[in-house]
Amino acid sequence: MSATRSGTKRDAPGFFVTPLSALSGAEVTGIDVSEFLADEHFAALKKAWLDHNGVLVLRDQSLTPEQHLAFSRRFGPLFGEAESLQDTVKKYLLPGFPGIYRVSNKVEDGKPLGRARAGTYWHSDVSFRKRPAMASILYAMEIPPVGGDTLFASMTAAYDALSPLLRKKLRRLRAVHDFAVAAGMSYSPDVIENGDFDGQNRHLHPVVTTHPETGRRALFVNPGFTSHVQGFGHEESRALLNFLYRHATRPEFVYRHRWRKHDLLIWDNRCLMHYAVADYEGKGERYMHRTTVIAEEPVGAAEAPAAEVIHTDSD
Ligand code: SIN
Repeated sequence: MSATRSGTKRDAPGFFVTPLSALSGAEVTGIDVSEFLADEHFAALKKAWLDHNGVLVLRDQSLTPEQHLAFSRRFGPLFGEAESLQDTVKKYLLPGFPGIYRVSNKVEDGKPLGRARAGTYWHSDVSFRKRPAMASILYAMEIPPVGGDTLFASMTAAYDALSPLLRKKLRRLRAVHDFAVAAGMSYSPDVIENGDFDGQNRHLHPVVTTHPETGRRALFVNPGFTSHVQGFGHEESRALLNFLYRHATRPEFVYRHRWRKHDLLIWDNRCLMHYAVADYEGKGERYMHRTTVIAEEPVGAAEAPAAEVIHTDSD
């Protein structure tokens, strides 16, 4: 592997990786994922993704829905295929392709082509499920001339920046994640399916998780789906969560992605929150296809002693 002064690295299988910010995000050029990648190429790509804190943008991709799905399945099973998404969202799936969720402000014959204003709040995809999202893989087919950026907050960096004492306290806590939080906040009532408010769309997760691949700890709460901290009073829970959200979204922990047409962006929901900026209404059309890979059930820091190798808190 050789590096240039701009930080660009030519990876062994032949693609280039260039950091996009000091903390997270890298751009990959010289790769075409419409073709099947050899195992070692896929492993190198995945390593670059993990090394750059879970945000990788592959430029200039030309993908059919089948190719997008085939590439995504290399990461693991997909929502919509191996497990269904909540009914409120199902209406935005690409017909004939249940693994593809359409995110768009386009309307055809009076019908929305995708979910408009999807994710216009900080969240981690599908965190209300027992097995939430691992990777989300978003393909930009049409973008407005300006606006429509997506922000990513590193929950790993946010966790690392807390005091050892608070980290220790947070590691013992769990929080409820519930689709009803986002539904109440950002879905219009005519879109919501009431069946989504029970059963599998509500789950208790550790407030601090250990990433199964990097071993790094991260905060795992988000304003979109976390309803409360278990065992805390309402006011206590709100105060703690609001502090964590303010802390995690400090500019130094955030990467802002300015889209180019045909970007394929892969992000890691296990260590990031994201926010889609809805500032382009009336300025242009945005049409994207998202696949969502299912994660393992998150593991709390207390249950994952291997992470102690990386985190050397003496508490
Ligand atoms: C989402 O998946 O939350 C939407 C992201 C985006 O539209 O930028």
